[in-house]
Amino acid sequence: MRSKVTVVGAGNVGATAAQRIFDRGYADVVLVDIVEGLPQGKALDILESGPVIGSDASIVGSNGYEETADSDIVVITSGIARRPGMSRDDLLLTNMRIVSSVVAEVVKHSPSSILLPVTNPLDAMAQRAHQVSGFPKNRVVGMAGILDTARFRAFLAEELSVSVSSIEAYVLGGHGDTMVPVVGSTTVGGIPVANLIEADRLEEIVQRTRDGGAEIVNYLKTGSAYYAPSASIVQMVEAILFDKNEILPCTALLEGEYGINNLFVGVPVKLGASGVVEVVEFDLTEDETAALKQSADAVQELVDVMASNEE
Ligand code: APR
Repeated sequence: MRSKVTVVGAGNVGATAAQRIFDRGYADVVLVDIVEGLPQGKALDILESGPVIGSDASIVGSNGYEETADSDIVVITSGIARRPGMSRDDLLLTNMRIVSSVVAEVVKHSPSSILLPVTNPLDAMAQRAHQVSGFPKNRVVGMAGILDTARFRAFLAEELSVSVSSIEAYVLGGHGDTMVPVVGSTTVGGIPVANLIEADRLEEIVQRTRDGGAEIVNYLKTGSAYYAPSASIVQMVEAILFDKNEILPCTALLEGEYGINNLFVGVPVKLGASGVVEVVEFDLTEDETAALKQSADAVQELVDVMASNEE
């Protein structure tokens, strides 16, 4: 029997993730959105690509949650984008309400699922999804670090004219301006990257990574990135469905690891069939530890704003 993956939010990120998963054929997909006809139309269009690309998986769209019953993984991309004149807190609280209502429905229909929040601000939304679901911490794991790391690796590969697969890197911390590309443990074919790229240039690449989301928005103007985000979602889905125990940068609940407590932050995790098998702690330099702490503080501020706006 195929696995079952629900994707909530049939916008750019959700629909592209659904398509990528359907294309691979290993999971049946349910696409959910509040907009009538949107998930149904996109799902049908993707289904009709099956004979051409050779996928026998099923994909259906829905405005409700009946069809999502007993999903193995639920990817949550539902939310709104920040509009002109909207403060960060307005966005935070609007998406908090959307994610809360979605998670409440998901939990009713798929009580054993693993939740994979993607909606921004990601770390705060993962925290919220964990709180509303009541799920154990291993079954809530957010997508951001793989995307940030992929951007960093892509830029380094371009700079050094080397295969992306030769670059090992991690971007940790919150998904935002304070993210922490861990330069100290970034290697190219085993060689520390600092030996290959001079410090000023490396700092430019780090900054471009931090601004990676904004760089795409500046080009697209009316939307944000979705090809790399959806590819990153698929890597997590596969690590879970195929019990890979793959070590990937993801947003997980920390309880003392890296000196951070009771907060969802991006860290390397071992991802397998049960979700987060463990948080992997590797050595950071003093500067990197301080930057991670600062990033966690920024996430904590958002969590505090959510807590003071509980209904
Ligand atoms: N239930 C289901 N779907 C919802 C709900 C809800 N309560 N509220 C909004 N949606 C849907 C919207 O109708 C829309 O189709 O979520 C979808 C969001 O899609 P887009 O606006 O295209 O946004 P997208 O680019 O896909 O990004 C989604 O992922 O990377 C993050 O920052 C990004 O938070 C954003 C999310």
